[in-house]
Amino acid sequence: MNTEMDWRSLASLLLFPVQMVFYMVKAAVSLLLPVRLRELSRDTVLITGGGRGIGRHLALEFAKQGARKIIIWGRTERCLKEACEEIQSLGVECHYFVCDVGNKEEVYQQAKAVREKVGDVTILVNNAAVVHGKTLIDSDDDALLKSQHINTLGQFWTTKAFLPRMLELQHGHIVCMNSVLALSAIPGAIDYCTSKSSSFAFMESLTLGLLDCPGVNATTVLPFHTSTEMFHGMKTRFPKLFPPLKPDTVARRTVEAVQTNQALLLLPWTMHLLVIMKSILPHTALEEIYRFTGSYACMDSFKGRT
Ligand SMILES: NC(=O)c1ccc[n+]([C@@H]2O[C@H](COP(=O)([O-])OP(=O)(O)OC[C@H]3O[C@@H](n4cnc5c(N)ncnc54)[C@H](OP(=O)(O)O)[C@@H]3O)[C@@H](O)[C@H]2O)c1
Repeated sequence: MNTEMDWRSLASLLLFPVQMVFYMVKAAVSLLLPVRLRELSRDTVLITGGGRGIGRHLALEFAKQGARKIIIWGRTERCLKEACEEIQSLGVECHYFVCDVGNKEEVYQQAKAVREKVGDVTILVNNAAVVHGKTLIDSDDDALLKSQHINTLGQFWTTKAFLPRMLELQHGHIVCMNSVLALSAIPGAIDYCTSKSSSFAFMESLTLGLLDCPGVNATTVLPFHTSTEMFHGMKTRFPKLFPPLKPDTVARRTVEAVQTNQALLLLPWTMHLLVIMKSILPHTALEEIYRFTGSYACMDSFKGRT
């Protein structure tokens, strides 16, 4: 018995590097081949913060790519209503619900209302977030708590509300609109960077936990600065070299990542270099990069949503 186990362990140990090389070659080859996109015609997509910004573009993109029904959540009814009408004008069924994702009771209550009025959600996009844009010392305690409640804990409640039914149906996808700031923080947005880092860990743990759940997957998107009102006023030193992303590009690439079942998406791809540099360069060199690129002081001119 023990000898048999030893042989098996030895065989899997020898097979392991071969598997690694196989997966790397497969990933490299798939970059060269045309992508096969998953059909969305069976899917009902719920997007938190879908009334404006990237969330609104996401709702439109899912509708354009053939999703069956779209549901958007947010706090401002006027924006939700406008976005909903825009989606309906494309001939796609759309519903909106006013819901503060930072409020656990409200999330569970509105999730129940969604199930009763619209049906099962099969794609959940956790997109809603806020940023206060201040240092720790300058931040009001309530503001610090609020961003953790909305940006991180909100995802606990929405995912707990919709994931069980996806697991029953063996059909579902959880998407997190995160940020590169989860991997490389900046001063002056301490609440936001902290919340995005913890939400990154949340998604990593959730994604691994779904490995043995057939038909249910997850995608984490980490975009660079995007031209919405969220970071209005923020300035980088070389805006021509590092221009902000367009929200429709972020939305298009996100929907594509869902359709190709990509677990992690960094936007633009050059952000991978940042991750490599962070893991190999000495801290003094990194500090110099932050100073040189201006990311050290980019929040000094931050105004945010007005
Ligand atoms: N803009 C960037 O540079 C950038 C870069 C990387 C990642 N991201 C991420 O992309 C996502 C969308 O950002 P964005 O740029 O589109 O920001 P945005 O324009 O400020 O939109 C944020 C959305 O979240 C909603 N929201 C905020 N608090 C909420 C709450 N408590 N409950 C429900 N909805 C709430 C807002 O609607 P209401 O205010 O009406 O509730 C709005 O629809 C966020 O997760 C953000 O962290 C943004």
